[in-house]
This record gives sequence, C-alpha cells and structure tokens, in this order.
Amino acid sequence: MRRYLVPWRFEECRIYSTGVLVLGSGIAGLYTALKASEYFEVTVLTKKGIPESNTKHAQGGIAVALDQEDSPSLHYEDTLYAGAGLCESDSVRALVEDGPLRVEELIRMGAHFDRKNGKLAFTQEAAHSRRRVLHANGDATGEEIERTLVAQALGEERILVKEEQFLLDLLKNSKGEVIGALSLNGLTQEPEIYLAQAVVLATGGLGQLYCYTTNPEVATGDGIAAAYRAGAQLMDMEFVQFHPTALFIPGAPRFLISEAVRGEGAHLLNAQGERFMQDVPGKELAPRDVVARGIWREQAKGEVTLDFRPIGLAKVPRRFPMIYQTCLDYGINVLEERLPVAPAAHYMMGGVRTDERGRTSLTNLYASGECACNGVHGANRLASNSLLDGLVFGGRIVEDIVNTVRAKGSSNPQPRDIYAENDEKPPKAGQEQSPLKREELQELMWEYVGIIREEEGLKKAIKLIGSWDSAFIPEKEIPQLELKNLLTTGYCVARAALAREESRGGHYRSDYPEINTKDLKHSIQARGTDNVCTIPVSRVD
Ligand code: SIN
Repeated sequence: MRRYLVPWRFEECRIYSTGVLVLGSGIAGLYTALKASEYFEVTVLTKKGIPESNTKHAQGGIAVALDQEDSPSLHYEDTLYAGAGLCESDSVRALVEDGPLRVEELIRMGAHFDRKNGKLAFTQEAAHSRRRVLHANGDATGEEIERTLVAQALGEERILVKEEQFLLDLLKNSKGEVIGALSLNGLTQEPEIYLAQAVVLATGGLGQLYCYTTNPEVATGDGIAAAYRAGAQLMDMEFVQFHPTALFIPGAPRFLISEAVRGEGAHLLNAQGERFMQDVPGKELAPRDVVARGIWREQAKGEVTLDFRPIGLAKVPRRFPMIYQTCLDYGINVLEERLPVAPAAHYMMGGVRTDERGRTSLTNLYASGECACNGVHGANRLASNSLLDGLVFGGRIVEDIVNTVRAKGSSNPQPRDIYAENDEKPPKAGQEQSPLKREELQELMWEYVGIIREEEGLKKAIKLIGSWDSAFIPEKEIPQLELKNLLTTGYCVARAALAREESRGGHYRSDYPEINTKDLKHSIQARGTDNVCTIPVSRVD
C-alpha cells in the first residue's frame, strides 16, 4: 500500500505553522481546540463548512451522571455492560468521572439543554439503568452543542478555522514523530503543509462505508486511513454499531429515529403487529446490537414498524419535533400510523488506537472522538456516550500536550524537519483506472461485513476490496480521495471481522454465534503487517 494518498512535492506546497493542529470540527475537534487555545495558537482544518459533522446530526443527547439519583459508578457499570466485555476500565472511569465537569463547562459556554421545572431534564435510552441523557430542543441536541462550540471557536482569537481542507496525509520527521499534516485546499485544489507541535485527529467515523447509514456524507474515515498510512495502530475495527431504528422508506435516506423515542415508550412491532422484543431482557431498550439483530431477523419475514402511540400523542411533536416533522415531510404522520424502521450503520467503536490520554502509537499524534479507539465503548457503545467521549478525551489530550511540551521544551517543527518517505512507484502513465463506484463498495460492505457476518462472505469482501484498492489510483479530487480512504478502512474492518471468531457486541458471526468468555482481546492492525494481532483487554477491577 502506498504511504501517501497522492504524490506530492514539498516545493509545490504553501507552508503554515501552528502550535496545535486539530483536524475536524465536530464536538471532539472544537472542544479540543478551545481547551488547547488556553495554551497555544491553534489551527482547525475541516473538510467542509465548520458545522458539518456527525455531531450536528446527533439527536438523543449526551449521557452524563448529573442527576441526584445517578452516579458516575452507575454510569460506569452501564457502559461496561453495553461494551460486552471489551471496555478498557481506565477509559470508562475517565469518561464517567470527568464527564459531569465537562458538561457543566459546556453549559457555561452557552449550551441550552431542555429543563423541567427549572431542572435539567434527563431522558431514558437503551441499556442505561437511569434516566441519564440530556437533550436540547427535544431531539436536536447535536445541533445545539455544535452551535455553542462553533460560536466559541469563532470568537476565540487564538483559533484559526480553515474550511474546505481535506486531510491528505500526516507528516513525520526522520525520527518518525508526527510534525504536521498535508491538506488539500478544496478552494485552490493545491496541497498545503501545516506544521505543529501536536496534531489531533478528530475526523469522525466511517458510516459512508455502508449503503445504509445515519451518517452524513463527510463520514468517510479520512483520519483513520491517514493514520494507518502513517503507521499508527488501529484497534477493534470490526466493531461497527448499527443503530436499530432508522427511517425505512424506499428512496429516502436512513434518517435516524432516536433511541430516545423508544426510551420514552415507543414499541417495535413486527409484520403481525406483535411486540417481538417483549421477551428479550430490556425489551426495546436492550443494547443496540441486540435490538438491531432482532429487527434484522423480523425484517426477513416482513415490515418492522415503530409505534409512537405509547409515548402519548400530545407529547410527540413537543418532545421529538425534528423527527415528527421529518416523518411528515416523507408523508408519514407518526401520530396516526406506524413508522417503518430498519437498522443502519451508525457509529465506529474501533479506530486509531489511543490510551486514556488520547495518545496514539505515533509520537505527537493524538486522536479523539469517533476516529479514536481507547476501549471506552468496548464492543458496543452505550447510547449517547459518544458526545461525552468527545469532551472528556479532548480535555485530557490538551492536558497531555501541555505536559509533554513543557517537559520537552518543544518548539515548532521547521520545514526542513519534514521527512518525505519513499513511496511505491506511482503507476505508469496511461494505466487503466478501475471504474469503481462508491456504491459498489457500500453494497459489498452491507452484504458481507454488515450486521451478520460469516467466513465465506468476509473472505469474498476482503479479496474484492483488496483488488479494487490496488487497481484504484485516485486523482486529486475529493470523491476519489474519499473512496480510497473507504477502501483502506473497509479492508481493515473486513480483515478484523474475519479474524474475530466469536460474536460480541456489534460484531456478529453466524458461523461463531457464541461469545468467547475465556479470551478477551482487542484486535490491532498496522500498515505493513498482513496479520491482525491481538492484545488482552485490561482486567476490570
Ligand atoms: C440516538 O439518538 O439514538 C443516537 C444517540 C447515540 O448514537 O448515542
């Protein structure tokens, strides 16, 4: 595999320098940028407009133990339970213990969460033992958080935000330390170099690997792929979360129908009108992977629908205004009829391997949010823990950068420090290009590396993706660059899924339907090694 996404020449690039370089502008990126700006000049590069991220689309909310009836230790237990044995306890402890202070800070920054009688209102979501999920404007929580962080970041003079910047690759020095990034300026189509003392990946997930996803167009795994090309380790790439309930109307996008809808009482019904989750522990609020597979199986027999009536019809438009209106726009009044739903790819539990301080396996490279994997979500993320993850680990990353820079007395890297690594030979001019389309990859992933997997299908996917990948040489055009990143990450997901011969959390193998209780391990992949390696999960105390 080539080291760089496209060939580049140092002399052709404009060069910029900053203290901390943040890649991505969702909750993880902007919060990290804001905290880092207390100590450093910060540059944020973002692929489209600043608010365009998965964060903006989050509905249900942000889970945090702030209610009097709740505690971080209960939140800890619930996160471990949902994570199906693969959570790293230090990361989970950091999440639940730092979480309340970080959310209070977000509120001080101006985020308005819904209240009842003046007090924060908490909703219920799957696998939470308490009502623990804060929400805003009913079901537009992500929009409110993103609005708050964008306003703060744009008002902070030590933060420079540059839009339309596509991350091409991470740059290193001759010691293998990350010293910056190469980015394609989408306005000029020119590559640019950004040098920094620390680089933070906050580029989000890869839902666009699948033909059915709740994720926006930008979720193409660019940061994960760039880290992999640069030699960083990836962890637990087989664990993709499929959200059980997305809108299921032919031709319409799989718009998310928040789990909070079931949390407030909606029922799932099969084609016979039966509540098929009734006898499963947790019923409609069992962990997401369980509900998603339950729906998948029922769908083989007929349509699955969500019945909003148990919520109380008067409450629906007020509590879920965006969902109510979107369904109306698609011709369905949920107050009068049941809503067809189906699972869709929603969240990547795996990603660039980090520790509980956000450090990757490469010096000076950090990762936060969905592109990172420190084991906080294990094999299956607990609902509404992802926004909290972006805050907590963003904060910890900045603490680590400050300590590291102080200890090393680092100064900004210089252009002469860039070590352009040798790459495989570029293809001969005129070599035939593969006519591959993104849709082909998405359909392949859905069919063979989706909700239910088995050996033969996985091997077929790996072979096809591998051959597509080697034949596909992207031009410097964003859809092609994204497709290349999707091929890289799709290959890693499929390879890890083949290697894990058990069923656990978001990874279900019909040929290995049992969980392996003896051998708790994370899967690790790195460029240049053919095998998927494993490391043990730390003991839970
Ligand atoms: C939802 O509202 O169901 C999504 C929240 C999440 O992904 O945690």
